[in-house]
Amino acid sequence: MVTVHHTAEQPVQTSTDQPASTTGQQQSSTHRAERTGRALADATLKEIIAGQEEIFVRRQPNSAHLAEAAQQHLAGGVTSSWQITAPQPVWLSHGHGSKVYDVDGNEYVDLHGGYGAALAGHGHPAIQEAVTAQVSRGTHFAQPTPNAVAVARELARRFGLPRWRFANSGTEATMDAIHLMRSITGRDLIIKIEGCYHGHHDSVQVSVAPEPEQAGPAAKPYSAPSSTGIPKAITDLTLIATFNDLDSVARLLETHQGQVAGMIIEPIMMNAGIIKPEPGYLTGLKTLLHQHHALLTFDEVKTGLTVGPGGVTRQEDVQPDLITLAKSLGGGVSVAAIGGTETVMDHVANGGYEMVGTFNGNPLAMAATRAMLTEVATPEAYQHIEKLRLQAKTGIEQAIAASTLSAHVVTAGAKGCVVFATEPVTSYRGFLGVDDRYSHAHWLYQHNGGVFLPPWGKIEQWLISVQHDEADIDRLIDNFAVFARAVGGPP
Ligand SMILES: Cc1ncc(COP(=O)(O)O)c(C=O)c1O
Repeated sequence: MVTVHHTAEQPVQTSTDQPASTTGQQQSSTHRAERTGRALADATLKEIIAGQEEIFVRRQPNSAHLAEAAQQHLAGGVTSSWQITAPQPVWLSHGHGSKVYDVDGNEYVDLHGGYGAALAGHGHPAIQEAVTAQVSRGTHFAQPTPNAVAVARELARRFGLPRWRFANSGTEATMDAIHLMRSITGRDLIIKIEGCYHGHHDSVQVSVAPEPEQAGPAAKPYSAPSSTGIPKAITDLTLIATFNDLDSVARLLETHQGQVAGMIIEPIMMNAGIIKPEPGYLTGLKTLLHQHHALLTFDEVKTGLTVGPGGVTRQEDVQPDLITLAKSLGGGVSVAAIGGTETVMDHVANGGYEMVGTFNGNPLAMAATRAMLTEVATPEAYQHIEKLRLQAKTGIEQAIAASTLSAHVVTAGAKGCVVFATEPVTSYRGFLGVDDRYSHAHWLYQHNGGVFLPPWGKIEQWLISVQHDEADIDRLIDNFAVFARAVGGPP
């Protein structure tokens, strides 16, 4: 049973068959009759989405007003282009624990987690205390503070790389990692995986989410620009390989002998749902790259603290040359870290590459990060998250089994998603074939039922924080069951 959590006006008449008794949305006998247990006809799915979007908008008049008013002085009415969501941006008032509240007073179980950055949840006492104490002692010096040593030591312990530096966002961290790979090897080319996202700097804005017509042949993917404003000369320096395909990397290294500086990869892809590496793939990459005197960077900006205490690096027991971290690292405060082997970081230490930034190692960020690593992301917290991961996976799998939906659940620690396809997805080309309309419909059902998943359909995943509990996950599962009945109920 889904509890009613809405404080906003309840919809009185909708075109969905979500039970009125559970979410306030009335049933439509027309749709029940139309539903035959098969995948819904396009028109019906469209109508279901339209009905849910109508409810969405009706519940959020203040967001609509702010979105409109913001257009005047905020470009596009938002603070980052990925905050523009359909049917309208959601304006938040505050967060507490595992919940966030919109400006209309609606409560949501927050599984959006600020695009994967809220592993601590909201207002965690340890983060509050660390930040408050630091605010009164000064928030910026551009000189190192003792917390930086404690943080670097703990990152070295968790991830196995001995030396660290800091930055402020994932984008900065991966930019530094790529500069460093080029600087050390004196080579210009890099290899990147089709469908991986590493931030918004030039070298990695290539083949992030190419449309089929841009992507080129599967056996030889193109370097497709992912944004305007990036010179072709730079795009051409980024070669594209296929996830879980060692041959595609070997081919590039052979074709461009002695020219490849290194490779950057999300060791579990998390900007295309969740795609895991096949056994031996990551080790194979390291061997191949090292044979060609090229370096390997694991971009663990998303996976870092969320899949486990030492990221994919520790889980898969493959030590890359460089690791980048950001998102959840600072407990909600903006921070990033770059870890490297002694050889790599000696190049920074001896001035071979100047890794700089006014706010690098900022005292506020360091205080929050230290609290995050030592008091929030503890072994007990990971055990708690593991229970909730299993609860979510099992509950949603049961709802899928009771429906005719073609879907499966993929989880990795605190992260998880429903993939609306029967077969596992192993690379970006498989992901391209997943029908995004079901993800959007699911997102709307969750939202209208009081669970805030990350928007952007099939791309993103949920994030369970250390402050979520079983009741939060129940709400996720219950909403999913309502959605599954509406779009893929039994015949
Ligand atoms: C794997 C990965 N790397 C890098 C980034 C960029 O991080 P930021 O948005 O903090 O610049 C992201 C952002 O989503 C990411 O998912």
